[in-house]
Amino acid sequence: MNTPEVQLQKKKYGIVGNSDGLNHALDIALQVAKTDLSVLITGESGVGKEAIPRLIHDNSLRKNKKYFAVNCGSIPEGTIDSELFGHEKGAFTGAVGEREGYFGAANGGTLFLDEVGELPLSTQARLLRVLETGEYIRVGSSEVRKTDVRIVAATNVNMAQAIKEGKFREDLYYRLNTIPIKMPALRERPDDIVLLFKKFAMDTAEKYNMPEPVELSEEAKIRMKAYPWPGNVRQLKNVTEQISILSRERYITPEILAEYVPEQPVSHDLIQLNASGKEQHSFENEREILYKILFDLRNDVTELKKLVHSQQSANSSVVTNSSVPAVPMQNPAPYYGTGVAYPQDHPASSVVPAQVKVVSAGKPVHEDEDIQTPEEYVEESLSLDDWERQMIIKALEKNGGRRKGAAHDLNISERTLYRKIKEYGLEK
Ligand SMILES: Nc1ncnc2c1ncn2[C@@H]1O[C@H](COP(=O)(O)OP(=O)(O)O)[C@@H](O)[C@H]1O
Ligand SMILES: [Mg+2]
Repeated sequence: MNTPEVQLQKKKYGIVGNSDGLNHALDIALQVAKTDLSVLITGESGVGKEAIPRLIHDNSLRKNKKYFAVNCGSIPEGTIDSELFGHEKGAFTGAVGEREGYFGAANGGTLFLDEVGELPLSTQARLLRVLETGEYIRVGSSEVRKTDVRIVAATNVNMAQAIKEGKFREDLYYRLNTIPIKMPALRERPDDIVLLFKKFAMDTAEKYNMPEPVELSEEAKIRMKAYPWPGNVRQLKNVTEQISILSRERYITPEILAEYVPEQPVSHDLIQLNASGKEQHSFENEREILYKILFDLRNDVTELKKLVHSQQSANSSVVTNSSVPAVPMQNPAPYYGTGVAYPQDHPASSVVPAQVKVVSAGKPVHEDEDIQTPEEYVEESLSLDDWERQMIIKALEKNGGRRKGAAHDLNISERTLYRKIKEYGLEK
């Protein structure tokens, strides 16, 4: 498993870590590289799936032929067939010239289909055909063309769930999954955390001409390993960069670390959910987990509503904001790698999103006044739509309006972001 060849490839591609799970994944990749078999790389967002297809191509007999990486989630549904399979001149409005498409262009080479779980069903049918027969038809054409393309695909979607929900074709899944490669989550390889921290600290120091990289104390290492890293290597990279740039100290103790890594990143339920492996609900990613928390919070608010009501009727309708719970959400900015805000035991002041208003303490609220009752306030402001809208605006602002970066930060596909921007009327 941990062969000299694996070590060599890690050096070549800047892949850091020495855990069994990582070495095993790389070993399989090297073994299948020489074949033409389809490979499906699975793993949570940020685990490092994207280095594998290139490694496979470079070690294959196709290495001197073309390699293309296509992010299926970032191409609008209307043009994806034409991007992948090409189109004839005049096939649709705007099709001025003809287009070869990736399947034609990659003939003889390798095509990496990233976020393959995002493909629309109609495109999945075309993909299945080309995988089974090597045949495809350009949009607007009736001519059957031949191609010889090796497919490496990646996904962070729970495919079993997607199949059950009718979002992904089972036959295509089996066809793509000839060789499965599972990239382990970072929390499953704690020793890699320290190695990766070192690498990212050194990279950052070099990049910004810092006299020396930051270094973890032994206690800080223990804390880093105990943290579950829901955003995986991407999150660790971001956190290491932050510490490198913002910390005045170069020797990082747990106290300093606490400013950058949340003490309690995920609620107990969620850790159990992750650890047990048998999910009671299916969560595609951490964002959905957060939604779940917000839903739970809403239920709590409903309970509180009842309490407030009974109090109001019993106690001449006076309420304070002490009955309004803090939203267990942190400013998502530091964790832009996954676009997830991690719940934390934090004081309310810094965690309540801007749009959440709370009733000022001690201010009496009379039912006959023309203002909202606290429950209306809270319900309205906790609206998930509002919250989602705010997250999108923040991510777009942070990325200077670039949708690609914003989608990346939010951990949603560009297509989904595009749709949501329209939905919320956020187009400039
Ligand atoms: N083992 C690793 N060694 C070095 N960098 C890594 C490793 N795994 C992931 N990364 C870095 O983490 C980030 C996320 O990895 P990526 O491959 O994009 O994740 P995903 O699984 O979401 O496709 C990238 O910047 C990548 O270079
Ligand atoms: Mg990726």
